[in-house]
Amino acid sequence: MKKIILFLTIFLVLVIFPFFRTANPENRPGLSLEDTFWVYVRAVQNSDLKSLFSTVTDEEDFFFLTSRGQLIDSRQGYYKFHKDWFREKDWEMPVELLDFKEGKEYGYTTAIFHYKSRMPEGRRYGLDSYFTLIFHKEEGMWKVIGDVCTPVNRYFTDENEGIKYTSDQAYTLNIIKNRRTVRKFKPTPVPKEHILKILEAAHYAPTAGNQQPWKFLVIQDKKSLASLEKEALSWYLEEYKIRRKPTEEELAKTEEALQKVLANVLSAPVYVAVLVDSNAKYPDYILYDGTLAAGYLMIAARALGYGTGFFTSFFPEKKMKMFFKIPEQYQLICFTPIGVPEEWPEAPPKKKLEELIILESF
Ligand SMILES: Cc1cc2nc3c(=O)[nH]c(=O)nc-3n(C[C@H](O)[C@H](O)[C@H](O)COP(=O)(O)O)c2cc1C
Repeated sequence: MKKIILFLTIFLVLVIFPFFRTANPENRPGLSLEDTFWVYVRAVQNSDLKSLFSTVTDEEDFFFLTSRGQLIDSRQGYYKFHKDWFREKDWEMPVELLDFKEGKEYGYTTAIFHYKSRMPEGRRYGLDSYFTLIFHKEEGMWKVIGDVCTPVNRYFTDENEGIKYTSDQAYTLNIIKNRRTVRKFKPTPVPKEHILKILEAAHYAPTAGNQQPWKFLVIQDKKSLASLEKEALSWYLEEYKIRRKPTEEELAKTEEALQKVLANVLSAPVYVAVLVDSNAKYPDYILYDGTLAAGYLMIAARALGYGTGFFTSFFPEKKMKMFFKIPEQYQLICFTPIGVPEEWPEAPPKKKLEELIILESF
């Protein structure tokens, strides 16, 4: 007898009670609008489509504005949206009811949800959004006929859950992280508007004493670039012969390989020679000023979807100044392409941040 009682107790605790605890209530005639709202919310939180749609109109006409601004105007669409969403795991969505009004035929609730989920790469993602549900009475039951979401905050968190990044912050940091040196481009043109936006960003870089010693020489002329390709090849080989004293065979091999590299490096539709004026007020700082502007240029270009490169060795300053008839007083910081990459290269290995950070003193 004791064994039977023990078995029944275990059965009730493990099987029956949890079932009752997790089973979601469904809508029924006579339920208040506020209680119907909580049936709706619990159903969402438990990914329970059946319980959720007991609170949704039976009519096909529906109005749902998602927090991404997408309009879904049918019950079927609303159903599919939730079905797809409920397949996702590892999310939670606490809800606060802010206000509600229960009229005779119509009513509404205004609430806020705090959606928390994980991105595929593991980062935590959050979305806070108001949502207003419009209810209509159908056969004695309150049924949702409209759902309007108004997002107020999107954010990401890394390890420290207390620190949130808005999508603007995460986007800016990602642009910096994803800038790449690109050495082969598509012929896709870069509109003048974009070139100006990129140079505008470059000219917001800091400079010593705000001296802004730059000139940005923009080159788009195809003939000029084709001629530069030939010249750059001869400049490099000239240097190579002096430095390496190669055999005929080595020279021919290097020339062939270099021709390909230069054709790729010079395949972009736009190039900018970043120059600094050595007659500036603080000439000792012009190299910093120029380099920072080049960095800003590269990040702005990345934000608009373009690859760049801080190219120096193929384009030696003396030769470039002669080629482009650059006045004596200017120094060349770098020659950078701006163009749509043939493909975005993988990031080259970067040192671990811990290797680079010294806290307080060496
Ligand atoms: C001062 C400086 C000079 C560089 N010179 C060249 C160059 O002559 N040719 C080239 O292909 N890349 C050049 N680069 C680009 C680097 O090779 C590139 O930044 C590095 O490999 C890291 O790749 P990432 O820019 O994609 O992060 C230069 C970069 C800097 C900062």
